[in-house]
Amino acid sequence: AQITVLNGPNLNLLGIREPGIYGTTSLADIQTNLEHLAADLKLELAFVQSNAEHVLVEHIHAAYLQHTDFIIINPAAFTHTSVALRDALLATKIPFIEVHLSNVHAREAFRTHSYFSDIAVGVICGLGANGYLLALQAAHQFLQERTQ
Ligand code: DQA
Repeated sequence: AQITVLNGPNLNLLGIREPGIYGTTSLADIQTNLEHLAADLKLELAFVQSNAEHVLVEHIHAAYLQHTDFIIINPAAFTHTSVALRDALLATKIPFIEVHLSNVHAREAFRTHSYFSDIAVGVICGLGANGYLLALQAAHQFLQERTQ
């Protein structure tokens, strides 16, 4: 099965960016850890980070054209703003898990609203970089149950 991991703006700065909130693990380390787990689970992984909304929209379209089975997305700040990314996920009907490193419910009020949570298979937040690995395990299980 094919899985795309999408990361939104400023996540390229993980490790440097507000480490008290987002931890000290870099995005490159998250990618490496995911690739190891994907190999164990026999999943094909594409990993993307962009600071541009339209680039992420186009990756969702590309995922659809490539018959990608599942998306793991940390929309970052676009979580709280992007109808365009929500519509791309609705249009393509690719099942997805929303991931946040931080517990968005324990922060500013504007972070408690997500344009994704109500249409996601599930949401993981507050578990740091490990949240991505948990999402990949959950995606694997979701796809196995679907093909049974
Ligand atoms: C984030 C939470 C968002 O509110 C924030 O804008 C981010 C990162 C997280 O992973 O905790 O950029 O998605």
